[in-house]
Amino acid sequence: MQERYIGLMSGTSLDGVDGVLVTFEGDQPVHVITSATEAFTPLFKAELLALNTPGHHEIHRAALAANQLAAVYAQVVHTLVSNTAHDAFAPKVTAIGAHGQTVRHQPKGTADVPHSCYTVQLNNPSLLAELTGIDVVADFRSRDVAAGGQGAPLVPAFHQHLFSRPESGVLVLNLGGIANLSVLPRRNLAAASTVLGFDCGPGNVLMDAWCLQHTGQTYDAGGAWAHSGQLLPELLARLMDEPYFSEPIPKSTGRDLFSLSWLAHKLAPFGNAAPADVQHTLTELTARTCTESMKPYLSDTQTLIVCGGGAFNQHLMARLQVGVPSLAVSASDAHGLPPLQVEATAFAWLARQSLHRRPGNLASVTGAAGPRLLGGIFPA
Ligand SMILES: Nc1ncnc2c1ncn2[C@@H]1O[C@H](COP(=O)(O)OP(=O)(O)OP(=O)(O)O)[C@@H](O)[C@H]1O
Ligand SMILES: [Mg+2]
Repeated sequence: MQERYIGLMSGTSLDGVDGVLVTFEGDQPVHVITSATEAFTPLFKAELLALNTPGHHEIHRAALAANQLAAVYAQVVHTLVSNTAHDAFAPKVTAIGAHGQTVRHQPKGTADVPHSCYTVQLNNPSLLAELTGIDVVADFRSRDVAAGGQGAPLVPAFHQHLFSRPESGVLVLNLGGIANLSVLPRRNLAAASTVLGFDCGPGNVLMDAWCLQHTGQTYDAGGAWAHSGQLLPELLARLMDEPYFSEPIPKSTGRDLFSLSWLAHKLAPFGNAAPADVQHTLTELTARTCTESMKPYLSDTQTLIVCGGGAFNQHLMARLQVGVPSLAVSASDAHGLPPLQVEATAFAWLARQSLHRRPGNLASVTGAAGPRLLGGIFPA
């Protein structure tokens, strides 16, 4: 039976919302019918960024931001549904998988304080259900954290469903605000429990911040600015001197660690550096930490698939290829799904998993006590 779902993703880059309307035909890989994006206004982006750290009246402001996010989500849903309005025979959308906006991610909690682990995605799924008339599945991460997991990354199970192959393993790197790697074993040969996945560290988040500060552009298009600069080896060493990079898996991170104040602290001794050289070095940080993370998993694979907006950064893509010369590095559109649709489609898939009462997490990835049904359902 054919089922339609909508997936909505708004990630740590704070660039806006990526949405897809997809069809599932039994358990076949998904088919994207239409996609839409909606950028956040600079004001809303600034407020979401501010809500990542404690501030005045933050509970009230967080509630307002959650409502505003639901309104942007509803706008994307409206576009997706309008795009398919000509198809009178299309089945109705079963549900929307709405990720929300992460503003805190503390899956490890505070040592010695019981029940101090949490992850917070701002969202108002009730309002979204009200505005769209469609069932909403939301808050996917909390159940995994409650079961002792990282709550992230949640996409490796979907990556396995979509990108794994019978003849060899595959690595999938999502370059969003944060970079996360999925290690997919050969299809059929391995049980799902051998899929691995973890956050490598910063993806675009630091490059975007530096670019905005010095050029007024929200990102370094194609990585051209980074390409024009030169490596600052001492700065790179200082950036890479961060315990997170050598922590064992499972692990996940966010703006809690890789914040603007983290960057300012690392840059403090380099006040006279040319901005383009800093951009080059921040890009190299992402490339190196990602490729270093891949080193233990190179033996069974020749393929690195890159998704997320960072796949459009050609300089970064070239540096990844240099870091893992044995792999063929390509963006995900060469493998069936454009870079900005992969994560959104994953949340459509996760919503379907929830409605079918199937687990969405992989305990081998998140470290949770076991497979769990993720998310809460908010009926229309
Ligand atoms: N043409 C481009 N050149 C370079 N970088 C780009 C380009 N287009 C997008 N990007 C980068 O991709 C980012 C957005 O990517 P994406 O939406 O995948 O991240 P995200 O919202 O953090 O998602 P997630 O958390 O799900 O990974 C932008 O902030 C920018 O840094
Ligand atoms: Mg995004």
